[in-house]
Amino acid sequence: MMLLRIVADALYWRGASLLQGGRPRRALPHLALAARLSSKPNYVYAAAMAASAAGERDRAARYCERALHLDPGLEAADSLLFEMFLHGEDYFQVLQRIHGHLRPRTYIEIGVEAGKSLRLVLPGTVALGIDPEPAVAFPLPPSVRVFAETSDDFFARHDVRAELGGLPVDLALIDGMHHFEFALRDFMHLERLSTAQSTILVHDCFPHDRRTAQRERLWGFWSGDIWRLIVLLKKYRPDLSIHTIATPPTGLAVVRNLDPSSRFIADNLGRLCAEFMALDYSYLDKDRAAKLNLFPNDWEQIRPLLARQL
Ligand SMILES: C[S@@+](CC[C@H](N)C(=O)[O-])C[C@H]1O[C@@H](n2cnc3c(N)ncnc32)[C@H](O)[C@@H]1O
Repeated sequence: MMLLRIVADALYWRGASLLQGGRPRRALPHLALAARLSSKPNYVYAAAMAASAAGERDRAARYCERALHLDPGLEAADSLLFEMFLHGEDYFQVLQRIHGHLRPRTYIEIGVEAGKSLRLVLPGTVALGIDPEPAVAFPLPPSVRVFAETSDDFFARHDVRAELGGLPVDLALIDGMHHFEFALRDFMHLERLSTAQSTILVHDCFPHDRRTAQRERLWGFWSGDIWRLIVLLKKYRPDLSIHTIATPPTGLAVVRNLDPSSRFIADNLGRLCAEFMALDYSYLDKDRAAKLNLFPNDWEQIRPLLARQL
């Protein structure tokens, strides 16, 4: 036991000095072994830094998650996890740009909370916000109406097209209940109300780590298992165009090429829920960026995604 500790310490110091000397590829095997022999959170974090600097993001993410498991307060590991995949303008800034660019006639937002995202609606947009417990704390434009209902009840009880003045949904944001099956139903309902030119945005689909991707809210920060929706749509709806913008804190998927006549999700709802609920978070251990269609958070590259469909 004592010997193992001495070996782990020696490997750590050697690896740390290689890392400091700008040689992450050389440092990584030393730090990886140190992290295996010892469960000191800073050893595991050092392995994460080396893996990240060596361009091995998935491996670095796994080390970060392990370091956080050992020490949930290790802020450096938290920050490294954040910075590796998501950068640039935050979700509110990207959403504001999307409103400004699309100038949608109509907008539906599922999950309003304080209204921080709903207040970004432009004056000319007819907007409906849905939330069973809205706690609006920001002034909203007069064209916005908030319905204090769950999204399932809202879609069941209202003639949504009539609420939108007879128009389809041009733009929608899914940011309600952070459980995959709720987001799936929200997507299904919104797609039916869309056209081939509409856009559905899905928030929280690039999870930060296993802890915050749980179905129970264990931490203040919580994205839940919305990521499963992206995996499902990629597998069963290859006709859709899906790009998950790498915007902090948890990504924003832009889904286009919608098909309001598609009945695939409605006809297979139970089976789809069962299949994707069985998918463990470890599915994302490898190639998480590719599996979730991560796309650069660069407005010049995002704008063409919103172009009119031919
Ligand atoms: C993350 S907050 C929304 C934040 C908001 N979009 C923003 O960015 O400022 C999620 C909201 O979803 C609401 N919510 C929970 N279950 C819901 C459901 N079944 N349907 C609609 N909204 C729901 C919660 O009450 C909460 O206010």
